[in-house]
Amino acid sequence: MDLSCTLIIFGGTGDLAHRKLMPAIYNLLHEKLLPENFAVVAVGRKEKTSEGYREEIYHSIREFSRFKIDEGTWNHLKDKIYYRTLDFLQEEAYISFEAFLRDKADQHHTRGNRVYYMAVAPEYFEGIVDKLHRHCMDRDVTGWQRVVIEKPFGRDLSSAKYLNDKIVQVFQEENTYRIDHYLGKEMLQNIMVLRFANMIFEPLWNNRFIDHIQITSSETMGVENRGDYYERSGAMRDMVQSHMLQLLSLIAMEPPNDLDTESVRNEKVKVLKALKKIEGKAVDQNTVRGQYGACKTGNEEILGYREEVRVNLKSTTETFVALRVFIENFRWAGVPFYIRTGKRMPEKSTEILIQFKTMENILYFKDKQLQPNILVIRIQPMEGIFFQFNAKEPGTRQRIIPVEMDFCQNCRIGINSPEAYERLLYDVMRGDATLFARWDEVEYAWKFIDSILEEWKDHIPVFPNYAAGTWGPKEADELLEKDQRNWINR
Ligand code: BG6
Repeated sequence: MDLSCTLIIFGGTGDLAHRKLMPAIYNLLHEKLLPENFAVVAVGRKEKTSEGYREEIYHSIREFSRFKIDEGTWNHLKDKIYYRTLDFLQEEAYISFEAFLRDKADQHHTRGNRVYYMAVAPEYFEGIVDKLHRHCMDRDVTGWQRVVIEKPFGRDLSSAKYLNDKIVQVFQEENTYRIDHYLGKEMLQNIMVLRFANMIFEPLWNNRFIDHIQITSSETMGVENRGDYYERSGAMRDMVQSHMLQLLSLIAMEPPNDLDTESVRNEKVKVLKALKKIEGKAVDQNTVRGQYGACKTGNEEILGYREEVRVNLKSTTETFVALRVFIENFRWAGVPFYIRTGKRMPEKSTEILIQFKTMENILYFKDKQLQPNILVIRIQPMEGIFFQFNAKEPGTRQRIIPVEMDFCQNCRIGINSPEAYERLLYDVMRGDATLFARWDEVEYAWKFIDSILEEWKDHIPVFPNYAAGTWGPKEADELLEKDQRNWINR
């Protein structure tokens, strides 16, 4: 397959380009996955030269790549990197920009193949796509043109619809890659394999055997310097609408007919369509939001969210969300999915925990103390699978204890999992959209989220309600306690 192309990054001076995209390109080259006929044009409003930009990128790769920088590999890549100053919204600027891109395409033999990567603030998406269209940069008979859209894809259903119409009118659905970097994570791709390549799990994967599922993604960091973005988004839009619902759909979907992009997406979207709407009074019973407050431990003082840079002193933005969600279909009716995500929590980790039902009150289960079977899919930072089951404690006493089987993928020597962005950039170049969200996935995710946000809007929360460094507000514990369950923080 010929992957030759020019990658154009709008927002080339931003954090995403420095921390993720450029290191991912370097890693792809290191892994010999980058096409020889390749160029990357970083676009930004700041004035700088390509030489100056390369210098900056060298340091970013050194800091953020999973490989130690090798001078030979870097020298090879360096000559393929360009920087172009551009006022994204200025119509005429695109004339010389197009000439520049053609010149680089000739020099690097990338033909008309282009990937436009929108790593800019969402308010620019529409304007840039529009200019690309007016200057015929979205079409070229000799090649393909694809657009990659970073999240947030809209801020509610109606703005997402509006944006989507604008983009697909120009690039069509098949050339639109809505990125959700969680889908590029190694263990997320492993969920389908675990479920559908093992005979032992699938027969148990339903409401007859599973008691409930917990999906947690916790972060220790606060909002850092992203206060202005986060104020407009909050944890619900930032994490739940995209990453958390993607995790949920992969864990709950039916087996697809085959591994085609559309077959997989069809099954994922069915899960999102089957989510029981949470609205009106049900919002209070099934959702919890929180915001971290300051915390002092020893000499260290962690600021509360309201004290962070570019955050309103009276902000009501949530930095924590917990939900109790039901999927109304044959497989999952009655099984609660508890979802939880937050910033400034005790650890950075993403895990899916599946708790199986316990047996009737017979034999060993007459003793109520027995632990249920638990399967944990560890997404990050540890990657692996953990299974807890009951066994006899060695010795003459008849004691039964929980024991564990623990498969740690990234503890194995030599496994240095690719970063999500590596896989995803590679897939865009290959034209494989399986790990990107189709429009209807985004649409149904917003439909589900919107009714909760709508209700929240009418009730001012009492924030802050959890201290930085803890597992969120007490109401999040109560959400499970009223079902006689609790969060399992392992
Ligand atoms: C991003 C969110 O999409 O995901 C961030 O905008 C969040 O707020 C990040 O920190 C988490 O990603 P990861 O890969 O570190 O879990």
